[in-house]
Amino acid sequence: MKVLILPDQQAAVQRAAEIVARTVIAKPDAVLGLATGGTMLPLYDDLARRHRDDGLSFAGVTTFNLDEYIGLAPDHPCSYHHYMRETFFDRVDIDPARTHLPQGDAPDPRAASLEYDALITAAGGIDLQLLGIGQNGHIGFNEPTASLGSRTRIKTLTTDTRRANQRYFASFDETPRYAITVGVATILEARKCVLLATGEAKAKAVFGMVEGPLSAVCPASALQLHPRATVVLDEAAASAL
Ligand code: GLP
Repeated sequence: MKVLILPDQQAAVQRAAEIVARTVIAKPDAVLGLATGGTMLPLYDDLARRHRDDGLSFAGVTTFNLDEYIGLAPDHPCSYHHYMRETFFDRVDIDPARTHLPQGDAPDPRAASLEYDALITAAGGIDLQLLGIGQNGHIGFNEPTASLGSRTRIKTLTTDTRRANQRYFASFDETPRYAITVGVATILEARKCVLLATGEAKAKAVFGMVEGPLSAVCPASALQLHPRATVVLDEAAASAL
């Protein structure tokens, strides 16, 4: 695991965006695994700016997002479908037909999860998987004790995660309880992983991921097994290392 510690949030975001941009320049038909969350907002801003100012093209890129809340339709303002359109897809030249997220309102979420995993394989696998980290060490929505051998499936969200994400919803009760998430094993199959974490609130989880034992209690520690994983941090997120 390569750990890069940058002086501040802006520098960390720029570094992660640079890795994405280089991947797309080297392979214009790259398959990208994408993440959501507050951490990724400035990164998508940076990529949209590179598209606008430097001509970085996503026209040939295929994307698979990590997760989606169960029960939310793609046009729900709190869905990750909506987040991705607003923060990234609508701001670049990506072909919407090549963008994929798990279907949160699928009539059979279990079958939809299996199909999603198979679709990633059929696309040739992920070239670059972008990841954030939850304060409890989750990646995607693989919550603590998620099997390190898991594939895309339904996960129950912990109370901590629901509290952390409550800010996007009208109330705690309206914050979804379940999500479809790409599994830990599916994530590990990506040819390259880049995890971006910024801010002191992530310091404990980052410590568990980098210096803790390999354990399902901290799903992000599974990245210790990955031959090409890069963790990009600002000083605050690295402060417990
Ligand atoms: C969310 C997402 C994760 C994300 C994490 C951190 O709930 N499911 O993919 O990495 O939690 O989010 P944030 O960047 O807002 O702290």
